[in-house]
Amino acid sequence: MENRRGIILAGGTGSRLHPSTISVSKQLMPVFDKPMIYYPLCTLMSAGMREILVITTPRDQDAFRNLLGDGSLLGISITYAVQAKPKGIAQALVIGEDEGFLDGHQSALVLGDNLFFGDEFDDQLLETNKPHVGATVFGYHVKNPKDYGVLGFDDDGRVTSIEEKPDNPQSNFAVTGLYFYDEHAPTYARTVRPSGRQELEITALNQAYLDRGELRVETLGTGTTWLDTGTHRSLLQASNFVGIIEERQGRRICCPEEVAWRKGWIDDAGFARAAEPVAKSNYGRYLLSLLD
Ligand code: G1P
Repeated sequence: MENRRGIILAGGTGSRLHPSTISVSKQLMPVFDKPMIYYPLCTLMSAGMREILVITTPRDQDAFRNLLGDGSLLGISITYAVQAKPKGIAQALVIGEDEGFLDGHQSALVLGDNLFFGDEFDDQLLETNKPHVGATVFGYHVKNPKDYGVLGFDDDGRVTSIEEKPDNPQSNFAVTGLYFYDEHAPTYARTVRPSGRQELEITALNQAYLDRGELRVETLGTGTTWLDTGTHRSLLQASNFVGIIEERQGRRICCPEEVAWRKGWIDDAGFARAAEPVAKSNYGRYLLSLLD
């Protein structure tokens, strides 16, 4: 179970957030009180993954290293690789293999701009992280399925289709940016040909699993929140959402230091060490207050 390796894809030009992302990576933009990448990092950590590869543009790698380091403060390992050009999400699996990171392991891939939140979701993560044959994707009911990968189901609720941004969506269930794969994913990803938009589509990789009868779909319930942060408006909405929850509950969500500590990957002293560099902010004060 501890064996699955996690990849965060934090490349891309962020062009829909220009001018904010002209000189700063989208995935470093704040979502309320923390950088965007903290959220998908917590998703992988909550699932139980401690070996994580962060894929960035060549330009932004140093900035991510400055932020996250080698992961030792969190009791995990974080390594870095580059996606030279935004050639599609499925390329992350190829990069993961070429870097020697996947090394025959099962994997989970999460997009650096996807935010998940919910207790029920954490349980689903732990379950899905168990080794299994094939791929698992998560379906989430949305108003605007055309903007996403979309699932189709038969009368028995079995998945029958997966299509990237279809004109005629087969359902309202979007495929979120979190994917669990068995050890064959890099091999299948290498057979994916570029789409009309010249990208190696993650949907094509998932289609390969569906063709083999090995695509599992977990639906996320109403108790789980999935937000993407690709536009000015959705970024603001995500910040507002996090701000409202945190102020209401007096707890913060998706703090990697807290996840590591609750998992027992760092002890109290290690937790204090991880919180110390940010201790002047409300975020850091929150972390330290947990020790009281
Ligand atoms: C990508 C995937 C799409 C998925 C979405 C989730 O879309 O191609 O299948 O539903 O992420 O955020 P993109 O962000 O590249 O438009």
